[in-house]
Amino acid sequence: MKKLIAGNWKMNGDNASNASLLDAILNGLTGLDGCDILVCPPSLYVATVAQRLNGTPIAVGAQDVSIQEKGAFTGENSAGMLRDVGASYVLVGHSERRQYHHETDNLVGEKAQAALAKGVTPIVCIGETLAEREAGETNAVVKRQLAAAVHAVGHCVSEIVVAYEPVWAIGTGKTATPEQAQAVHAVIRAQLAAATPNATRIKILYGGSMNAANAAQLLAQPDIDGGLIGGAALKADDFLTIVRAAQN
Ligand code: PGA
Repeated sequence: MKKLIAGNWKMNGDNASNASLLDAILNGLTGLDGCDILVCPPSLYVATVAQRLNGTPIAVGAQDVSIQEKGAFTGENSAGMLRDVGASYVLVGHSERRQYHHETDNLVGEKAQAALAKGVTPIVCIGETLAEREAGETNAVVKRQLAAAVHAVGHCVSEIVVAYEPVWAIGTGKTATPEQAQAVHAVIRAQLAAATPNATRIKILYGGSMNAANAAQLLAQPDIDGGLIGGAALKADDFLTIVRAAQN
């Protein structure tokens, strides 16, 4: 399976900096067709970025989606709208959404389902906090979060992407060791295998301070099928180094 390297730009960038970041990434991509590549700009920029990337190997995703199709939901973007402007992926349940917007496991599952219904691939983000890890609850938390998404998407489970992002590793410079990450990814794979015979086809990304220096070791783990990259996705050279480490 090709690995997937996804940049989560979070709330960063503007038209000018997005264009120069994309140009620098595209310029460095020659010969790097051994993995799938995705960038997820803020929703306001999805359309412009998608236009810029049309005909290139880089796909575009959004960072969140409404569970509603249309109507009086001020501030929201539906999956159909994301698809309409060129997004083929969307992050759901990022820990920053769970934390700052109080998104529950069930809501995240509904978002995944809403995305799939419009042909947008949801990247379901799960992961434990530091307190949960220290309390020995990592596997239980991750399983509970994943179970809600698996339940919501039903027989479409093989169409999702999962991102394991330990909350304590996001934006902190503290990465899970390859062994720590692989241990959780194996738990996730086993849970997916209980839900579908196609579990080996489902990409499980690692996220949380993945960078140019640690990507190769993380991506070498048997159940790590790519990365969800925040900070390092804003620097073309770092992002390209990670893409290089993900070549099959
Ligand atoms: P980070 O963010 O790479 O800056 O830790 C990852 C994420 O939040 O997706």
